[in-house]
Amino acid sequence: MPVKQSYPRRPRALVGMNISRRDFLKMGMKGAAVLFLPFGASGCGGLTAGNNSTQGSAGTLLKSAAKLPEPFRVPLPIPPVLEPIRTDATTDYYRITQKISQAEILPDLKTEIWGYDGIFPGPTIVSRSGRRTVVRHRNELPVPTAVHLHGGVTPPEHDGYPSDVVMPSGGWHDGHRGHLELNVIGEGSFDYEYPLEQPAAALWYHDHRMDFTGPQVYKGLAGFHLIHDDVEQALGLPARERDVPLMICDRSFARDGSFRYPSLDPSLEGRPGVRAEYMSGVLGDCILVNGAPWPVLEVTNTRYRFRLLNASNARRYQLALDPPARYGAPFVQVGSDHGLLPEPISHNLIDLAQAERFDVIVDFSKYSVGDEITMVNKFGAASTAQVMRFIVAREGRDDSRIPSKLADFQPLSRSDATVEREFRFVRGGAQMNGMTLWTVNGEPFDPSRIDADPELGSVELWKIRALNVEHPFHIHLAPFQVLTSGGGGDPGPYNTGWKDTVNLDNGGDAEILIKFDSYRGRYVFHCHNLEHEDMMMMANFEVV
Ligand code: C2O
Ligand code: CU
Ligand code: CU
Repeated sequence: MPVKQSYPRRPRALVGMNISRRDFLKMGMKGAAVLFLPFGASGCGGLTAGNNSTQGSAGTLLKSAAKLPEPFRVPLPIPPVLEPIRTDATTDYYRITQKISQAEILPDLKTEIWGYDGIFPGPTIVSRSGRRTVVRHRNELPVPTAVHLHGGVTPPEHDGYPSDVVMPSGGWHDGHRGHLELNVIGEGSFDYEYPLEQPAAALWYHDHRMDFTGPQVYKGLAGFHLIHDDVEQALGLPARERDVPLMICDRSFARDGSFRYPSLDPSLEGRPGVRAEYMSGVLGDCILVNGAPWPVLEVTNTRYRFRLLNASNARRYQLALDPPARYGAPFVQVGSDHGLLPEPISHNLIDLAQAERFDVIVDFSKYSVGDEITMVNKFGAASTAQVMRFIVAREGRDDSRIPSKLADFQPLSRSDATVEREFRFVRGGAQMNGMTLWTVNGEPFDPSRIDADPELGSVELWKIRALNVEHPFHIHLAPFQVLTSGGGGDPGPYNTGWKDTVNLDNGGDAEILIKFDSYRGRYVFHCHNLEHEDMMMMANFEVV
């Protein structure tokens, strides 16, 4: 196989940088020697990964000052399905307003959230594969936003590139603070257009503003976008009220009920980043599912389909059911990030890295009416060891099925790849305010540097490796298959099917085969630990 090794190009010019970015890039470039510091040698004081290594998550626990509620007291909220404002022969049109509102997440306390339509999670958008979806996002927040449809096969100008921002409808007084670096795509609002020429899958949309994705998602800017198609519909999987999206994330609360997050500038208007001790990631102590702390779902003794999404900034989960089913595996996975699997896979545990989706069936007929089943997090401790509870409240009728064959699947092989590239996700190579940043191949994110230029229609083999701590790798636009993980080993139980996110353990690696067969243009790939992403662990590729 002719293998073209590719090396990242140096930045052409630091055009369009704001002051803080320009300054630290200069610092980074001046100290040109790229050092790969072992974690903790950075002098940033953030020797925190070890604190939580038993939790399988890079990051530092930020404890709530508010009293957290007893678990399993509130019902699981189901985000409302958004109604189109209009449909025509090819397209469904939606409107979402990004705004501040008050939510009651903890009993008797108000939490200010930034929400799509003022709710957290945002409304669920349900689309049909191949029908265009247009969402007019109006930004009534005090800061610029960018909406990314995670898992979407989307043309570049609608993908939520971090610097393609929608400015606040109320104006932005930024002037001296880097308006220049932003590519304003909308003053107050923008129509994001999604062709959705892709199979049934559970996608999610979330904020992706450059340097501020972590805090803006943490404040609530995340929602589901489900795609259905004929193949999926013909399977007879549990549907309607038994097809349940579960957005799992952790948060921490101040005494007054507001979200706690260690931003250097809590207004999110000026300086990006978090306090040094949270550089590795922000871990909350309260587990929310669909925005409610440790909620309860009453079920019938039938099969349910759950769209598991880890929308946490830094926390990974290992999910299990307690007690386990009387027989058989508790989870039957039918889909991965980008759609249905070729055939179902049974799991006793599910490892769920940030941004990953697992489409699973749980069969409550393996329990008795009256049983209470807790979804636990084996990577957690104390309050984070529990996620939610199911109560088998009554008998139900079930005509759902789990067919042994699900969807067509073309496995890629090593010989399909025409280009090989290597990316190391590492701490080192650049500094900001005396902190050593997270980088890709030692380079901090720079919108003007293209790190890979795959050809349209090609398959590439990327060797990706995580150093210092674990890093969930995510690439926009182009789905991939995991070929090997852990030094050439098999991909493991959680990496079957078409993926857009794969977890890399600390020191771990993976070889992935990425198919670039949709659009040309510039996109990002990055670590989906949102603190790492904001602190520069992101890079560009351009499909040519
Ligand atoms: Cu969900 Cu670029 O990310
Ligand atoms: Cu994405
Ligand atoms: Cu990372």
